[in-house]
Amino acid sequence: MKRAAVLVALRTFPEVLDKLRTHFEVDYNDEPRDLPRDELIARLQGRQGLFVTAVEPVDATLVAACPALRVVSSMAVGYNNIDVAACAARGITVTNAPDVLTETTADFGFALMLAAARRITESEHFLRAGRWQRWAFDFFCGAEVHGATLGILGMGRIGQAIARRGALGFGMKVIYHNRSRLAPELEAPLGARWVDKSTLLREADHLVLVVPYSKASHHAIGAPELALMKPTATLTNVARGGVVDDTALARALAERRIAAAALDVFEGEPKVHPDLLALSNVVLTPHIASATTATRTKMAMLAADNLIAVLGGRPPLTPVTA
Ligand code: DGY
Repeated sequence: MKRAAVLVALRTFPEVLDKLRTHFEVDYNDEPRDLPRDELIARLQGRQGLFVTAVEPVDATLVAACPALRVVSSMAVGYNNIDVAACAARGITVTNAPDVLTETTADFGFALMLAAARRITESEHFLRAGRWQRWAFDFFCGAEVHGATLGILGMGRIGQAIARRGALGFGMKVIYHNRSRLAPELEAPLGARWVDKSTLLREADHLVLVVPYSKASHHAIGAPELALMKPTATLTNVARGGVVDDTALARALAERRIAAAALDVFEGEPKVHPDLLALSNVVLTPHIASATTATRTKMAMLAADNLIAVLGGRPPLTPVTA
């Protein structure tokens, strides 16, 4: 029987490729570049499977141009780059990679929040620039983290993992806003309290965004929301670029309407708003919240296993539904 053919659209771990090659004819983009759309479409002709991450846009035009395609498997948990409804309309299964990155991403979100609150990268840049002359009582004073109020927008798996770190590790009060309330047995051990969005903005000392990107969450944090926050507050985004209006945030940071921010994701990344780059009170990282070797391997393996399941005629392990 002819083996199914898949395209791995981005560089990945050798063991993941080896596994795929035992099941499929594999076309592999091993160059450190994203495939341009035309090339992606051309290389997908006659291929049943596509291995992607959160970067490659998989939209209605692309799936219409690739009639052999049966499964799009992403090694990311976020799938806003994939038109799931267009895929469903053509009978194409979409899968993502939830759970395996939850704790690692929460670690990083918490680290970013700490870095913003305690001005870690800002003070390091100061030191490296040779500007450290003397100690002063107000030298890089930041905001307390322990005992402070942690606000979480988007209380899914990663939001809950961040809440656990705050409540159980740092004695923080946890408030959150989410479309639906957590079950009481999930709220209780964290002392977590559901609040409306404006209460979240007003009361949080440290606000962490973990809400998936969608039309509804586009610019969920813009100028009006930033205006509600405390001037001492920090904002951390490990969700997606576009959840925050980066222009409005840069202005709020420049005018010290909030104290600091920490961003792992950006509108239009890998480009970063130039005003953010010029500010000292923002920590900037290049979309690496899930980046440990162990976790990225698990994410890629899960994406491979989803291809193997679907093209082997079995149900996907972690399907995404429209
Ligand atoms: C995810 O899995 O969605 C992360 O943001 C990595 O892209």
